[in-house]
Amino acid sequence: MWDRLWTGARLATMEQGETPYGAIENGALGVEDGRIVYCGPQDDLPGAPDSLAREIHRLDGRWITPGLIDCHTHLVHGGDRAGEFEMRLEGASYEELLKAGGGILSTVRATREASLESLVATALPRLDALLAEGVTTIEIKSGYGLDVATETRMLRAARRLGALRPVSVVTTFLGAHALPPEFADRADAYIDLMCGSALPAVAGEGLADAVDVFCEKIAFNLEQTERVFRAAQAAGLPVKLHAEQLSDMGGALLAARYGALSCDHLEFISRDGAAAMAKAGTVAVMLPGAFYFLRDTNVPPIAMLREAGVPMAVSTDCNPGSSPATSLLLMLNMAATLFRMTPEEALAGVTREAARALGVQDHRGTLKQGKAADLAIWDIARPAELSYRIGFNPLYGAVKAGEIVERT
Ligand code: NIG
Ligand code: FE
Repeated sequence: MWDRLWTGARLATMEQGETPYGAIENGALGVEDGRIVYCGPQDDLPGAPDSLAREIHRLDGRWITPGLIDCHTHLVHGGDRAGEFEMRLEGASYEELLKAGGGILSTVRATREASLESLVATALPRLDALLAEGVTTIEIKSGYGLDVATETRMLRAARRLGALRPVSVVTTFLGAHALPPEFADRADAYIDLMCGSALPAVAGEGLADAVDVFCEKIAFNLEQTERVFRAAQAAGLPVKLHAEQLSDMGGALLAARYGALSCDHLEFISRDGAAAMAKAGTVAVMLPGAFYFLRDTNVPPIAMLREAGVPMAVSTDCNPGSSPATSLLLMLNMAATLFRMTPEEALAGVTREAARALGVQDHRGTLKQGKAADLAIWDIARPAELSYRIGFNPLYGAVKAGEIVERT
C-alpha cells in the first residue's frame, strides 16, 4: 500500500516533453516513503484508488506542481535596511551606500552582533512566508559575517532552520561577499583568510553545500574570484557566482570554466558569457526582485540567454539590501512582466531549473516517479495564474517528503 494518493488532479510535472508544463490532465499522484511512486493519468493507475493507498485525497481538478524551490537567498541575517531604503529614495545609490561603509557592511555589523538563536528567530518569519507559498527547498547563503566565526554561525543557523521546518535547506558559503572594514585595502589578505581558514572550516564541518562569490567592482575581482573557486574545488564543493549585476566583469566566463552550478543576476552578461554558460550547463538565475528594488534599468538579456540555450531559474534573492522579498510568486510575476519570461519559463525557473541551479535535479524539481514527494497544490484553473496574479496566494496545500505540511 502507498502512503497517500491524490486523484482528480491536474499535474504540471514540469518534465520537458510534448505538452506545455509537462501537463497531465485527469492525473493521479501516489507517494510512499517520501517519494513519488506514481505520477500519471488516473485511468492508468494499477488498481482502484482505495486498493492502492492508505489515504486518498480528491483534488477536483486542482493543479499539482513540484514544490517550489527558492535557489538564491540571503535569508539569514541580522537587522534590516529600512533606513537605507529611505536614503536611497532620497537619491543615494546602492554603490555609494556600500562605499560609505553602509549597505552590505551595515548588515555585517548587525549579523556579527546576533546570536545563533537570534539569527534563527529573525529568519523564521521570512522562511514561513516562503513556505506559505509552497516552497519546499531553499538555498541560504552566508556572507554577512565576513569572519570565520560569524560565517560559520550563519550557516549553522541555516541548517537549524531546515530542522525546524518541513523544508530542505541547501547552504552556500559566501565569505567573499564584501570586504570587511578590518581588511580595508587588503582584499587579497581577506581572500587568503577565506580560502585558508573560513572555507576549509565550514567545509570540514559539512556546513556548506556550495561556494559563491560577489564578483563586482564594489566587491571582488576576477582573480580573487578564481582563487576562491580553486579553494572550493580543493574542498570538493561546487561553485556559483553573483555575476554581471552592475557591470560586465567576465564573471560568467570564469564561472563556466569552473563548471559553476549557476551565475546569478546577469543584467550585463555578454554573448560570450551566455555561450560559455550554455556549454557548461550553468544555470542563469534571474533575480527580478533586486532589479526592481534597485530600480535597475538594464534588463537581463533573456532573449539572448534563451537563444543560447542557457537554463533559467528565478529566485527571490531575499536579502535586506537589494531584495527584501519573501514572495516567490511575486517573483514569477516580475520575471514575466519585467523580464518577459513566459509563465512556463517562470514556473520552470522555480522548479526544474532551480533544482538544477542547486545540483539537486536528480531528486527534485519535477514530478517524476522516484523523485522526492515535494508538492505544491494550487486552487487555480491554469498554471499561468501563478505568474499572473500580484500579491495573491492560491496555495491549497503543500507536501514535503510525502507528508502534508500543516499550515501555520
Ligand atoms: O544578491 N549582490 C550582492 N549580494 C546581494 C545583496 C546583498 C545586500 O545588499 O545586502 C544580492 O543582491
Ligand atoms: Fe544575492
